[in-house]
Amino acid sequence: MSSIITITFSPCIDKSTAVAALVPEKKLVCATPKLEPGGGGINIARAIKKLGGAATAIFPSGGYTGKYFNHLLEKENIPAVIIETANETRENIIVVDEATNNQYRFGMPGTGLTAAEWKKCLLAVEEMSDVEFIIASGSLPPGVPDTIYALLAKIAKSKNAKFIVDTSGEALKHAAAEGVYMLKPNLGELSSLAGKKEIQPGEVKTIAREIIAKGNCEVIVVSMGADGAMLVTAEIAGIFKPPAVERKSTVGAGDSMVAGIVFYLAQGKDLTQSVQYGVACGTAATLNAGTELCKKEDADRLYSLIQSAHS
Ligand SMILES: Nc1ncnc2c1ncn2[C@@H]1O[C@H](COP(=O)(O)OP(=O)(O)OP(=O)(O)O)[C@@H](O)[C@H]1O
Ligand SMILES: [Mg+2]
Repeated sequence: MSSIITITFSPCIDKSTAVAALVPEKKLVCATPKLEPGGGGINIARAIKKLGGAATAIFPSGGYTGKYFNHLLEKENIPAVIIETANETRENIIVVDEATNNQYRFGMPGTGLTAAEWKKCLLAVEEMSDVEFIIASGSLPPGVPDTIYALLAKIAKSKNAKFIVDTSGEALKHAAAEGVYMLKPNLGELSSLAGKKEIQPGEVKTIAREIIAKGNCEVIVVSMGADGAMLVTAEIAGIFKPPAVERKSTVGAGDSMVAGIVFYLAQGKDLTQSVQYGVACGTAATLNAGTELCKKEDADRLYSLIQSAHS
């Protein structure tokens, strides 16, 4: 079994299509839809695979949509531990308006999980052997408590695994309070974690260090869109900015970044190298239209540029 696992409580089928122009009332002719398995940890496992690594995805799945979701993931050869649920897996719709090139993302509400179902997800994590990294990412569907990532943090500690969390709101607060190896908030998520309305880039280091000084987290990687990311630990702090690129779509940038960081950490690279590679993967994802994740060749090329800019 692979030593990286991801857990996603609210997976979805992403259905992408395009229309000549998005206008009300008229029947719109859509392009042939592209269906992809999605959701935070699912995308991270897929991106790790694209980079040449392997991660096992753990997730709940239900109904006919769930069966189709499992099939889509299987087609990509992503190892999976599937927890069958009573409710159907959700489907999201992404529509590109070709008249303006605007992308509209319609996210359906997460389908609820019962306590027995989310507990089975936790048990599946507990039962995995030789786990080095556990990545939890994504929103929580109805029925799953905000403390779920804190519960997973405890499991990670008992397994001696490094726990990486990419989430927001209350779930992020509970995870940070319990203590995790790494948090990957963006500026907005860091602000709400710190109880502030807004954070200026110049304040990031101090605020991240305050969260670390509470003794609960080791590493905070604050992503800042086109400005790259800041890596903060008790000892080190560094900002890594990607080269300017022609951005097509930022969908999947955060997931590709987390994938890149963990893919490098798993190969024994240091934190600086790993976060630089994460920035490269995040930026690589923006080179692709629609929901497509990073391509390895783009990530490797951008990484060389970031490394030489910071050496
Ligand atoms: N416009 C951009 N140009 C270049 N790189 C970008 C851009 N937007 C994002 N990235 C890259 O992707 C990384 C993560 O992006 P961002 O900070 O937007 O994360 P996020 O808000 O968590 O994204 P997501 O919406 O995918 O969860 C950035 O650190 C950067 O490397
Ligand atoms: Mg994000």
